[in-house]
Amino acid sequence: MHPATNSEPSSRPSLSWSDPPLCEGTPGYVNLDHAATTPALSVVKQAVDAALPYYGGVHRGRGFNSELSTELYQRCRMEVLELLGGDPLRHVVVFGRNTTDLINVLSHSIAFDPGDVVVVTGLEHHSNDLPWRRVARVARVEADAHGGLSEDAVEACFKRHRGRVKLLAVTGASNVTGYLPDIGLLADLAHRYGAKIFVDAAQLVAHRPLRLVAGERELDFVAFSGHKMYAPFGSGALVGAREAFEQRAPFASGGGTVSLVTSDRQWWLDAPHRQEAGTPNLLGAVALARACRALRTLDLRVVAERERTLTRRLLRGLSAVPGATLYGSPDPDLRRDRVGIVPFNLRGLEHAEVAEALALDHGISVRSGCFCAQPLVTRLLGRPELSELDYAALASHLRKRPDARMPGMVRVSLGLCTSGEEVDRLCQALCEIAADPRPSQGRDERRRQRRNDIARMVAGVFAP
Ligand code: ALA
Repeated sequence: MHPATNSEPSSRPSLSWSDPPLCEGTPGYVNLDHAATTPALSVVKQAVDAALPYYGGVHRGRGFNSELSTELYQRCRMEVLELLGGDPLRHVVVFGRNTTDLINVLSHSIAFDPGDVVVVTGLEHHSNDLPWRRVARVARVEADAHGGLSEDAVEACFKRHRGRVKLLAVTGASNVTGYLPDIGLLADLAHRYGAKIFVDAAQLVAHRPLRLVAGERELDFVAFSGHKMYAPFGSGALVGAREAFEQRAPFASGGGTVSLVTSDRQWWLDAPHRQEAGTPNLLGAVALARACRALRTLDLRVVAERERTLTRRLLRGLSAVPGATLYGSPDPDLRRDRVGIVPFNLRGLEHAEVAEALALDHGISVRSGCFCAQPLVTRLLGRPELSELDYAALASHLRKRPDARMPGMVRVSLGLCTSGEEVDRLCQALCEIAADPRPSQGRDERRRQRRNDIARMVAGVFAP
């Protein structure tokens, strides 16, 4: 195993729970939508500010800024590997726009033969489902009624497709329910059947310690997004063993991917350059790498413990809201660990109405809908499967009427700086909404005011 490097006091940045780690949010507003995206850590902003004056073309040019930027970019890859305990001699870090982008990159890097199968689970975000459908035969293991995943069901799927499963693509943490599949067990299972495992760590990496290698156990591929780990500067990282990225032509081709080009042929560079077409997003990589370092310093075991305490408080508070139905594991004591994501509905109200009431009447941000995970949300809601014809009609209706609402849920998601008071404020607000679901007095005025505030702030971004 590559030695862990989280314990060198001299190289630690001065970040601790007593420092204000986050860039200030909008005063008066409570953000409980961290699963969608996170604000920037102050140290992330500082790192980007520090790099900005020296910004130059990575791998392009012999000027000072260009060489410095190339060096800095390389350092960013090392920071990512340090967070994951990767081995720089064996693992490569590919930077891209976000997890979605990088799953597409990975799906085109693996050499699938006709008949090869990718096993996906019913817990996946669309981004860890749709890309695989384009490159291989997909076999699904459905979620259980609470959005959990049975390892036995995964094994049964491997058995059904014995000898043909090339990859298990599974989320590290569900963006709908916070459920944490046992990725260690799943890695063992995949390897026992001769397959590799890819972990979509978008909802995991800022919440729980994640190691590429732990003893004999190894994850083959992991991807995550900067914008879900307090580094919203347009970058994500995909990590895996080098040889896996050097079998095929890249997903996106162009400048930076080739060693030689003639008028009708090209020779690809080694990974990760082959996968990074165009000028790299250096500042995005700096942000993401700085966030990796900050998470190591904060210690993800401490982050996790704090989040568990808050999640228990949230689950108890939501369970006491009259008319609330909670989805996902019903256990408020968290005997099985989960990340701080809880979906629910309120009787008699549409999900979007609840989110609107929270935002306009209580200053609380949550997300509502299907969270880019329609199969899982549909299953949790207990909706019947539709016929092919019904689906086609529904898709056409939704295409023509973008304002039409799918059935869905309201989702609360906790972050590094969520406080117990914020959780209580949410639960209190929901009790008030449940007691009187009519739009509150003055809501139209508050909506107008909000539009004005937004217009002023947008103008402020471009001023003078
Ligand atoms: N995948 C993000 C979410 O779950 C956008 O909200």
